[in-house]
Amino acid sequence: MNDNSWLHLQRQDPDWMLPADLEQRDAFGARDCGWVDQMTPFVRHLCPPGGTVLDPFCGFGSTLVAAHLAGRAGIGIELDAPRAAIAAERLDRLRAIGQRVLQGDAAKLLPGLEPVDLVLSNVPYFGCSWPQQAERGQLYASSSYAQFLGMLERTLKQLRACLKPGAHLVLCAENLRVGGRFVPLAWDLARLMADRFELIEERVLVYDRPCASQEPGRMHGNRAHEYALVARNAPAGIDLAQTLATLRDLQAAIPDFLVYGSFARWMLRWPAARAPADADLLLPCDAALIARICAWLEARGFAITCWGAPFSAVATEAAAAILPQRHYLHAVRLGRDGAACRIDLCFRDSHHDYAQVLESAVRVDGLRLLNPDLLGQLPD
Ligand SMILES: C[S@@+](CC[C@H](N)C(=O)[O-])C[C@H]1O[C@@H](n2cnc3c(N)ncnc32)[C@H](O)[C@@H]1O
Repeated sequence: MNDNSWLHLQRQDPDWMLPADLEQRDAFGARDCGWVDQMTPFVRHLCPPGGTVLDPFCGFGSTLVAAHLAGRAGIGIELDAPRAAIAAERLDRLRAIGQRVLQGDAAKLLPGLEPVDLVLSNVPYFGCSWPQQAERGQLYASSSYAQFLGMLERTLKQLRACLKPGAHLVLCAENLRVGGRFVPLAWDLARLMADRFELIEERVLVYDRPCASQEPGRMHGNRAHEYALVARNAPAGIDLAQTLATLRDLQAAIPDFLVYGSFARWMLRWPAARAPADADLLLPCDAALIARICAWLEARGFAITCWGAPFSAVATEAAAAILPQRHYLHAVRLGRDGAACRIDLCFRDSHHDYAQVLESAVRVDGLRLLNPDLLGQLPD
């Protein structure tokens, strides 16, 4: 793969295209079939020889054909049973042994897989009218954009455990027009990816074909270009000194929390402690207190999210009823110098109750920490 930020795709190699008879068998006319040539550079560049590529939305198996051509093993998941059968037959015709197609909902099947070396996929579009009875979990059949993004997020969460540490995730997506409205699907996807992976770069895939409507009058995709969003399964680093200073200021203003998890271990200079990816704060499940902390953080440029959705201090007061089920909030600040601070507010922890551990807390560097005897029992 070259160093350009774009990839110009001029024509498909006819030998690897979806055969016309298989195309005709699809209820959607295989309009959403991607190009093998679109996937091949990513497979060659980001999956080591002998490694395995996973496509959680494999459709007609184009990614697996690319894996076969590059000599890598592949696993594809496709929810639509007729499509999964088309993909399997396409791969059989190419004698692509080493490629497996699993039929089912990606979010359900992913937890059973061994970690792979590369995840590479074209994500489903939003705003399609799926031409047949949809299986449960079919992203094409989502009735609202919020539901669509929620389902994508659910899959991304599972994908983290399916990817080896440091391995890459490449998702291709385009922004759309649905009913004449611009829908920034590719950009929203990048935001969701950045919540769980280290986003590294975008490549613009440019095709020699005009913009075309996927479904006249309804969903219009700019099929002349799309984004390949490249991320790595690695925690994005944080600015430790800035995070520490923020926590000290926060505790001086609002004392009711303890620092625990990997940030506390790092503060205690435990020999095997890895650099923390965030700072975990343990606090009581008290909506008014959470609202005060959120307001303090928001005033200092932190964006607060709850399970991937924006959550503001104002909403926190009103959302007292739902907070206990949510367990934690994320607070992230990206400064203009590029330094990031990431703080998790945990008000429901299955290992520790704030009121119980408060008494044995210790004071280190001006901050209250969970007692070191209890620290080792906690997951990061
Ligand atoms: C853009 S198409 C992929 C096409 C593929 N890249 C190819 O060229 O063959 C997206 C696919 O995701 C499938 N899909 C949607 N929701 C799914 C889910 N929850 N689990 C697995 N597959 C799903 C759709 O049925 C569709 O075939």
